[in-house]
Formats: sequence, C-alpha cells, structure tokens
Amino acid sequence: MPVTTIVGAQWGDEGKGRVVDYLASPFGENHKPADMVVRYQGGDNAGHTVINQLGEFKLHLVPSGIFNSSTQCIVGSGCVVNPETLMSEIEDLSRAGVSLKNLFISSHAHLILPYHRQLDGLEETARGARAIGTTKRGIGPAYADKAARWGLRVGDLLHLDRLRKRLAAILPHKNRTIAHLGGKPESLDSLTALCLRLAKQLRPHIVNTLPLVRAAVEADRVILLEGQLGVMRDLDWGVYPYVTSSNPVASFGPVGAGLPMRAITDVMGVVKAYVTAVGAGPLPTELTDETGDRLRQVGREYGATTGRPRRCGWLDAVALDYANWLNGFTGLVVTKLDVLDGMPELKICTAYRLTSGEVTHRMPDLAELETVEPVYERWPGWERPTAKARRWGDFPVAAQRYLRRIEELVGAPIRWVSVGPEREAMITITD
Ligand code: GDP
Ligand code: IMO
Ligand code: MG
Repeated sequence: MPVTTIVGAQWGDEGKGRVVDYLASPFGENHKPADMVVRYQGGDNAGHTVINQLGEFKLHLVPSGIFNSSTQCIVGSGCVVNPETLMSEIEDLSRAGVSLKNLFISSHAHLILPYHRQLDGLEETARGARAIGTTKRGIGPAYADKAARWGLRVGDLLHLDRLRKRLAAILPHKNRTIAHLGGKPESLDSLTALCLRLAKQLRPHIVNTLPLVRAAVEADRVILLEGQLGVMRDLDWGVYPYVTSSNPVASFGPVGAGLPMRAITDVMGVVKAYVTAVGAGPLPTELTDETGDRLRQVGREYGATTGRPRRCGWLDAVALDYANWLNGFTGLVVTKLDVLDGMPELKICTAYRLTSGEVTHRMPDLAELETVEPVYERWPGWERPTAKARRWGDFPVAAQRYLRRIEELVGAPIRWVSVGPEREAMITITD
C-alpha cells in the first residue's frame, strides 16, 4: 500500500493521529513504516493525540509521523498555517526530544495571521444563537481569503518586502471589517515585525514540497496522507453550515498533497466505536442522558484543541455508509472499542425515520438531518475488558459480533482495531 489516505469517517476525533503514528512507526516483520506523511488540509483546528515512548502529544499542525525520525513530514499546500502556533509546536516537540529535521512546510500553504483569528471570534459572536462553535483558530477566515485571492502564503514569508506591500493593501479592508464587528484594528508594523521574526525561525522548513512528494511516489515509497476532522464536517458534504472550511474527504488528499489521483492505493477510514462531535450542528444519535455522560467520562471525550466536552452518541451506520460512498474505503480502523467494555447493551443506528414517516438507510438531504429520528439495532455488550486484547481471538464473542456488524453495515473490511490510546494497543485483523 504505497499511498494510503487516512480519513476521519465521522465528526472528527476518531483517532487519526494515533493511527498515523502507529502506521508510520516500525512494528512487526511485514510492516513497512511510512517514508512520508503529508497533512493535506485543515490547520491548527486539528488536535491529533499521540501517545508513544516519548510521551503524550497533541499535534495541531505537525504531521503525526514526526516521531519516526526517518519519516519525512509535510504540511501540504491544502493546509492553512498559523506560523505562531506552528513555531510553538515545533519548540514543544523539540524540548521533548523529537527531531524536526524532516519537517517541511509547503510554500503554497496559506498563512493564518492574527486578523484571521480575531475575525473568527468576532464572526462567531455575530452569528449569535447560530454560532458554528468553531475552534476560533482563524480557519474559516483564512480559507475564505484563499478563495477570494486575498490570502498570503507561507512562501511569502521568504519575501518580506513583497509581503509587506501585500499586507499594506489587504489590511485596510480587514480592519474595516474588524472595526465594524467591534474588534481591535491590527497594525501593519506589528504584523510585519511578527512575520519577520517567524520567517527567521521557520525558514529552514519552508520549501516547495512538490518535488519531495513526486520523488517519493516515483521511488514507490510508503506514503500516508493524514486527514484532519471528518467527513460529516466536510465543507461540501458535511452538515453545512456547521462544517469546517476545507475538505476532509479522501478525494481532496491528492489536491492538498500534490499528487495524481491514480497514485492513491488505499483509503483507510478511521471509525470510533461510537460517535462524538465538538461544536454545533446535527448529530442524530447524540445521547444527552447518563449513557452519553458515561461515554464522555470513560472515553475522556474532551476536545484536544479547545478542551470543550465532546457530544457523544451511538454509532451511526447511516453516516458511515455515506462516508464510505464519498471516500471509497479500502479498509477501516476501529478505535476506542475498549470504551464500550462493560456496557450491558449497545445500539447501532441503521436507519433514520424522516418527518414524513419514511424510513431510510441512506443519508437523506442533509437539511433533514436536524429532524431525523434514529432507528436502532440492539446488540449485547460484553463484560470482559478488551483493553488487554492483542489478537482477534482475545475479543469476547459479543465484541467480535459488534465489529463484524460494523463491517457489514459500512461495506469495508476492518484492518485494525484499537483498544487503548498507546501504540501497542492496536490489533491487526488478518482475516
Ligand atoms: P484525532 O483528532 O482523530 O487524531 O483524535 P483525537 O486525538 O482528537 O481524539 C482521540 C482520543 O482518543 C485521544 O485522546 C486518544 O488518545 C484517544 N484514543 C485513541 N484511540 C483510543 C483507543 O483505542 N482507546 C482509548 N481508550 N482511547 C483512544
Ligand atoms: P481533528 O482533526 C473535532 C469542528 C469545530 C466546529 C467546526 C468548524 O482533531 O479531528 P473550524 O475551527 O474548523 O472552523 O470549526 O469543526 N472542528 C473539529 N472537531 N475535531 C477537529 O479536528 C476539529 N476541527 C474543527 O468544533 O464544529
Ligand atoms: Mg482531534
């Protein structure tokens, strides 16, 4: 599997970071660790948790393959980069003994500057009761500028005279909007000084990443494309307007990484054994009762970026079938199975009842998602903990049946199951 896209199959936080860290690391005789990991979209709204021999890390921009010092890690052109948070992430990783010599930032990636962050907060306030619940990292405003051709790119940090001229043209327009929304105008001098400082620090990492990616594909290297967030928050196919401003779907991978579609050989959907979401918008299987509280508590479901409690619910197979259609999963990684240990009964949503009374197994028009009623299948839970399981045969029979049902409903085979956040708690499924 030379080029595998790792994509969140639900509402984000499925465990993509730990999956990428695992696949990038050397393990087993037949496994080839990744030679390259490319983040293909999103920015520091991501919170990808990795726990390994070096400690516990919450990565926001640096690709999750960084712990293997021979893996090249690329922040692709499809990403938006806040140079300040990137720099502090680099410093934190460095202090923890992680080598960053193989970190490359695409000169084409767009910059998130202080006015983007400020506008994200002001726009959320202006939305009032209809706030999206963004991470307030400036993601939406930066992608909006990219599309409107107001954006500045990471490569512009290497041409400060030009950057200052462009900032001088853009800033009055930004400051008018900021003032209108009751914010504090940004000054050209302090922005330029900030860019000067960050350019000095980040210069060694900024490159045209295309030749690196091309060379890796041509040499048949093992490459992982690391997605951010999940399908249900995709700009085109998610629960609009409660979405992010980029496309987590796997088909954006080649765009955001810079390789041809035909280079992709595998698409691995990361599926949490239940669902969680941070922020507003429809989540049909949400549990606002004590079962939901239990999932949050046992699964430690608090945002890795904002610390907000995650909304929790039963597994939604209608959404997963939709995700499989949009991504074409060649395999699945099911995470957090251990969180379900000890629950007397589990439910899987296999259909939605629409307000018209019609029952559908397929994702309806997303505008209907606010009002659908989930139709559940009930499955017996298991008592014996799965956390120590290391092979398929170690799983209680009820857990095996739950997993087989997921495969059947999604229509893709499970390749790995994780039963704990550490690297060694990942089980390869061979049949
Ligand atoms: P990502 O954004 O998709 O990388 O996922 P996050 O890191 O935001 O959220 C996943 C959370 O679940 C993190 O706290 C992980 O350490 C944790 N986690 C991942 N896999 C497992 C697992 O199999 N079992 C348990 N108990 N925790 C897990
Ligand atoms: P990872 O990669 C969970 C959510 C926000 C909000 C919406 C838009 O760790 O899975 P944005 O700041 O992107 O404009 O917010 O998307 N969101 C995430 N939720 N995990 C993430 O990333 C998220 N990134 C954004 O809560 O609902
Ligand atoms: Mg996360």
